[in-house]
Amino acid sequence: DGAQLIWFLPGYLLGSIPFGLLLTRMIGIDIRSVGSGNIGTTNVLRTGNKRLAAATLLLDAGKGAAAVLLARYFAGDGAAMLAGLAAFIGHVWPVWLKFRGGKGVATLLGVALAAVPLAGLAALLTWLGGALLTRFSSVGGMAAAVAAPLAALAMGKTHSAITLAIMAAILIWKHRDNIVRLRAGTESRIGAKG
Ligand code: G3P
Repeated sequence: DGAQLIWFLPGYLLGSIPFGLLLTRMIGIDIRSVGSGNIGTTNVLRTGNKRLAAATLLLDAGKGAAAVLLARYFAGDGAAMLAGLAAFIGHVWPVWLKFRGGKGVATLLGVALAAVPLAGLAALLTWLGGALLTRFSSVGGMAAAVAAPLAALAMGKTHSAITLAIMAAILIWKHRDNIVRLRAGTESRIGAKG
């Protein structure tokens, strides 16, 4: 139903709110000049402010979940996944930042948790496990992104699985610098300086 396409715009606008940038600006920091330059939770953590990092994680995930839940409430499941994908795209390519946004881990988790809660939970646990085991947030994030569509597929949620797989592909593409650093042995570990 073409009428559902209209849910792309509110989803995109919600997703394009760069919470990491806005929150760190409140303490006088431009997050884009810190660490990896990314606007996400992992890089906010590199400022040393754990509370702001936690807030970034919750808000970046929350906007993805909110997009899904709002669209589902007003227009049903098809609109929900479209709005979730749009929120993810808004986070990764926000018009406000000349399309230079984040890498999408938190927002993918939020979308997955709202769309297919058990698949979201599987992705969340994969992220935590991967990040804790390797101390590389990027490894946990990429593993979680792969886990989300696989878990949705295993649960028979084919449409959600396809949407999450598109998000996972974009997420891994956005981690290409991290992949280069991982292979070169120069990726920074969680808790390490720089
Ligand atoms: O959440 C993004 C994370 O996977 C990598 O971030 O700052 O280490 O490039 P960063």
